[in-house]
Amino acid sequence: MERRHGTFNRTTVESATAQGRTFHTTTIAGAKRSYPEAPDEPKRQAPFENASSIGKELPKLCASAINAADPGDVFPVSEYSQRKAISATPTSTFDRALLLSHPRYALPECLVNNLKALGIKEIYPWQKQCLMGPGLLTGKKNLVYSAPTGGGKSLVADILLLKRVLEDRNAKAILVLPYVALVQEKVRWLRSVVEGIKRRPAEDATKKPQLWAKRPDEDNIRVVGFFGGGMIRSTWSDFEIGVCTFEKANTLINSAIDDCSIASLRAVVLDELHMVDDDRRGYLMELIATKLLSLEHNVQIVGMSATLSNIEVLSRWLDAHSYVTFYRPVPVEEHLVYENAIYPAATTKALLRTASQLEPDLATLLRENAPLKVIDASTHKELQDPVLNAVVALANETARSGYGALVFCGSRQSCESDARLISRVLPAIHELDPDTYEKRLDLVGDLRSLSTGLDPILGETIPAGVAFHHAGLTTEERDLIASAYDSGVLKVMTATCSLAAGINLPARRVILHNARIGRDIIGPSMLRQMRGRAGRKGKDEIGETFLCCRKADLEDVVGLMCAELPQLSSGLTTGRHRIQRALLETIAIRLANSRDSISEYLQKSLLSLSVTRDVISGHIDSSFEGLTSMGFVEVDSSFSYTATQLGKAIVASSLEPEHGAFIHREMQRALRAFVLDGEMHVLYCFTPVHDLSVAVNWQVFRNEMEALDDSGLRVMTFLGLKPTLVNRMAQGGSLKQTTTEEKEASRIYHRFYLALQLRDLCNEMPIHVVARKYNMPRGTVQTLAQTCTGFAAGMVKFCEHMGWGAMAAILNHFSDRLNAGARSDLLALAKITFIKSRTARVFYENGFKSVAAIANADPRELVPVLMQYRLTYPNSIAPNMSSTGATSGISGSAKLNTESTVIDVNTVESHSLPPRLGMMRKMLGGN
Ligand SMILES: Nc1ncnc2c1ncn2[C@@H]1O[C@H](COP(=O)(O)OP(=O)(O)OP(=O)(O)O)[C@@H](O)[C@H]1O
Ligand SMILES: [Mg+2]
Repeated sequence: MERRHGTFNRTTVESATAQGRTFHTTTIAGAKRSYPEAPDEPKRQAPFENASSIGKELPKLCASAINAADPGDVFPVSEYSQRKAISATPTSTFDRALLLSHPRYALPECLVNNLKALGIKEIYPWQKQCLMGPGLLTGKKNLVYSAPTGGGKSLVADILLLKRVLEDRNAKAILVLPYVALVQEKVRWLRSVVEGIKRRPAEDATKKPQLWAKRPDEDNIRVVGFFGGGMIRSTWSDFEIGVCTFEKANTLINSAIDDCSIASLRAVVLDELHMVDDDRRGYLMELIATKLLSLEHNVQIVGMSATLSNIEVLSRWLDAHSYVTFYRPVPVEEHLVYENAIYPAATTKALLRTASQLEPDLATLLRENAPLKVIDASTHKELQDPVLNAVVALANETARSGYGALVFCGSRQSCESDARLISRVLPAIHELDPDTYEKRLDLVGDLRSLSTGLDPILGETIPAGVAFHHAGLTTEERDLIASAYDSGVLKVMTATCSLAAGINLPARRVILHNARIGRDIIGPSMLRQMRGRAGRKGKDEIGETFLCCRKADLEDVVGLMCAELPQLSSGLTTGRHRIQRALLETIAIRLANSRDSISEYLQKSLLSLSVTRDVISGHIDSSFEGLTSMGFVEVDSSFSYTATQLGKAIVASSLEPEHGAFIHREMQRALRAFVLDGEMHVLYCFTPVHDLSVAVNWQVFRNEMEALDDSGLRVMTFLGLKPTLVNRMAQGGSLKQTTTEEKEASRIYHRFYLALQLRDLCNEMPIHVVARKYNMPRGTVQTLAQTCTGFAAGMVKFCEHMGWGAMAAILNHFSDRLNAGARSDLLALAKITFIKSRTARVFYENGFKSVAAIANADPRELVPVLMQYRLTYPNSIAPNMSSTGATSGISGSAKLNTESTVIDVNTVESHSLPPRLGMMRKMLGGN
């Protein structure tokens, strides 16, 4: 396999890698795992804030100064030493092959223009070299490549994927990404890339007379995102490019193989390929690729990552051309910050070498080394901790210079407290220019107008240009915050590792507040991904990273900074029953049905490169034993394997075999005596069974149990839940989980507790109220609702496959309610885009009871209803900023009078209008 090296630009970690030493960290090295939040994280209540609290400033602090360690050092005017060293993207005006309009790429002009408009005027030399690999542009060969973070990997994959889609009118491509945030970003990007591009016309299109006019968008390339609870109704025929999470991609490919429509799939891109090693979800990526390799027709597989250590193994597995480059358009300068001194990362490598030879104390060695800069100790008691002091000083310096700083923290709580502290050292309101301040207040207004209301900490920090970003916020909140940071309205964003991979944001500095996630030290791969957020081409021209480390961690951190990336390996055998799932899927979708063909199938997995045939054979035997004993698979006299009805139902609903068996037992019981005089039993049925990392608050459980009606209590009894046990737990008892029965019982309690939250959501209780009631972050409640929507769709499929039509119909109805967060009467209204349950309720109560009623109404009748909504939920009114000198969003409370039937829309300033009112204003013809 040919392997080339692109333009040479090494980061410190790479140099360390080349040095060939590995140092152990306390976590499972390198895998970029989707870490659950720290279990001991204190829960914060999110009480409503009244509008007057906005703009309230906490007492200001003064960030420590950062000075050159040697006063003789003269730093250039800018603090950023790298400014002088920025090497502009090496381009050659003579190499016409760097232009995407070059005939060898054969790309449509419209595509080239779209990319140009998005800032891609020409490609990097390495991108050209990589695309020129044998058989890549024609789709005959697979590709695995590695380039540093921010190196521009996505563009290579995008071009190959678009070429495949444009070759044939019916061609489809799938792009697989690990996180929902990445899927959303990619969908937005690809939609702009394909805008205006037409697919090839159907071959018989000219011959057949058309009875009806062609829809103008009929030939467009449709880009659809598949993730969590979103777009669950989209199917294979709804897209040309599907952007999916691992789970969705696996399900989509399974059903396409099952119904024989897979032949139209031409390309699959596996981004962040190093995640194949991920403990929890990596094996799904392996299953996807293994299936693609087993298909009769050729699907071009493109895999990429910044952190691949054994690319040769991966390229052998995927039968792919491999390519490696170390080119990064914006070089990143890396630093270690320890005890208020800043050292270049290169020092740590030398230190480690010395330390390993002489074995003295690392801290002593470090102190003897001259730091680049020193940070003054702080006089404030809040900033006594040197790590915190450094984080605040570094963020302050970047923000005051007008650039963006991204601070990675180990937990949600630390994200919030860092954001608060940093906001206290940044310029006070009166020092800001009015335009910036107004934009920040608009952001506060937008957050306030969301149904969850404004988070009080964000209310404090945003006026100073600081916000936090973690899974405790809802997706809408995260979206607003990330785009405000992207556009420069916010200067500092603190985040958990959820923003570490793939995301393009303008971070001049990436600051790591300790190298930990929860209690564990991060792995080298995660470190590289986090640092890779600094200096992204198109977002910033300079990148710096600072790893601020505390005393106790110094040795681990220095080791981590120099550690090699771990070797990637298969995740198929790391968890229980994964091979079982692999086999059940293959048999259910009829990809293989004999012992030989199944063995052949597993020979195409990554696992087969690291174990012998005999080991795989052993796995197959034990998995079959399990599958047949659970009744998922049958074997006939000619040794042909088929999936049973239950086996097919489990695959169709994307359940793991173990969970499938549990659900089947529960559903069978439920079908015998379904409690239908209330909602609890149905809701319980589509509460996910897998671990959602939600701890049960037994006091809340007890309160809710005591408030249950007869029907609810009957459901509890029916499920075998004992009120006495709940009471005991509420008084501090503990739930035994040693035997299988005890574990199963605990799972039922857990599931019932989540079902109680779902009941509230379905009954129009807003997310933030549910979050407060159950003492959980609002983002977690939202994730629960989204996961349940996806799970419910799976349950409907499960019932349909099992022939339980009536049950499927009931679940379908509740699935709609959960989607809408509404009672039955509102279902129709809540389906209107942008209309959530509370707005729907206001419309309903004002006599607009159907979609038709709203569609036929004069917009002038609707505006007062929307205004009434704003009055009913005052928390969502944009704050009146007059007290802070900013202009008011809606001038004069009289205009909010619900009794006024005609509103002078031209006096309503659009920039501070909540989104829906803005739309309404447009409908009414305001500017
Ligand atoms: N040829 C190019 N010219 C200008 N900008 C480019 C070019 N190629 C990529 N970029 C821009 O560089 C930025 C980083 O690219 P990309 O997201 O592909 O990085 P990546 O290699 O996937 O990094 P990561 O490993 O962090 O995901 C993007 O904003 C992208 O638009
Ligand atoms: Mg990327």
